[in-house]
Amino acid sequence: LATSEVDISQIAEGQVVTVKWRGKPVFIWNRTKQQIDDAKAVELSQLPDRLARNQNLPDDSPATDENRAAKDKENWLVVVGVCTHLGCVPISQQGNFGGWFCPCHGSHYDGAGRIRQGPAPENLHVPPFAFMGDTKITIG
Ligand code: FES
Repeated sequence: LATSEVDISQIAEGQVVTVKWRGKPVFIWNRTKQQIDDAKAVELSQLPDRLARNQNLPDDSPATDENRAAKDKENWLVVVGVCTHLGCVPISQQGNFGGWFCPCHGSHYDGAGRIRQGPAPENLHVPPFAFMGDTKITIG
């Protein structure tokens, strides 16, 4: 299936961009230190969904920030932009937890794309992706 190559060199610190992969939006977020620290400070016990939902890791990996962010490049968060409730596209950097807000039925995702409030059952999914050097990623 299709692989998308994305140049991330122009994504400023703090900025989220949306790209398409297999017809779906994928959010790529260059997180600030504060945003990373906030996401790391969350305990697993605070999470409705404690699984990482990261296709680059084993299915039973816990939803720590480390298991959600890119390996060894923790500022980068890459998630499929499809709400796990009924599939709307959440809005970036909105909601009560600093990540995404889904306006369809009010799901709030945090700075690691983890569901924190509202009807969505799962964290935003992390698609398979890999870095090609420091400025490009391939998704899929
Ligand atoms: Fe997102 Fe229902 S589709 S909250």
